[in-house]
Amino acid sequence: MLSFSTATHVFTLILCLTLSDIVRATGPRVLCVERYRISQGDTCASIAPQLGLNQSDVESMNPGVNCSSSALPSGKSLCTRAYTPVCTLNATATQTTCDELAATWEITVNSFVAFNDDVDDACDDLVVGNTYCVSTDGCYPGHTDPICDQ
Ligand SMILES: *[C@@H]1O[C@H](CO)[C@@H](O)[C@H](O)[C@H]1NC(C)=O
Ligand SMILES: *[C@@H]1O[C@H](CO)[C@@H](O)[C@H](O)[C@H]1NC(C)=O
Ligand SMILES: *[C@@H]1O[C@H](CO)[C@@H](O)[C@H](O)[C@H]1NC(C)=O
Repeated sequence: MLSFSTATHVFTLILCLTLSDIVRATGPRVLCVERYRISQGDTCASIAPQLGLNQSDVESMNPGVNCSSSALPSGKSLCTRAYTPVCTLNATATQTTCDELAATWEITVNSFVAFNDDVDDACDDLVVGNTYCVSTDGCYPGHTDPICDQ
């Protein structure tokens, strides 16, 4: 027989699963805010300490980079600092493309896509009635945007 406490946990779990189906886990995409240009012979082991990072940081900020296998591609760059902006304003979609919201909030389609990790690059798969982020702080540590100091 289920104890009261187990039953409560089961109920809570079901409630959480149900809620997570309704409330989309969404928000701004991660931005890379600092990059390092790879020189010939660079390896994760040689550059990560210089950059104040460990190898798992390098891998997590650079999908496709595997520190234990391939050599780093010289001439390309690595992301060395990433920042996930905080959404400061959500708006409700009234159509499936982002044109209207982007125009209303004076942002580009590219920004709209960057602010919402659940829309595709064409920005044509919005769900009418769902809310989307239309403004972010953009104030990552070390930013130079004066608006962030206000
Ligand atoms: C790498 O550094 C991050 C913090 O930057 C830390 O959270 C993580 O545990 C470290 N990983 C390893 C394998 O040392
Ligand atoms: C990285 O490369 C190593 C060695 O080739 C391999 O064992 C490992 O599975 C790779 N990791 C990923 C995430 O692909
Ligand atoms: C915008 O919506 C997201 C996802 O529902 C939520 O996490 C965030 O707190 C909201 N932000 C604001 C400023 O309302």
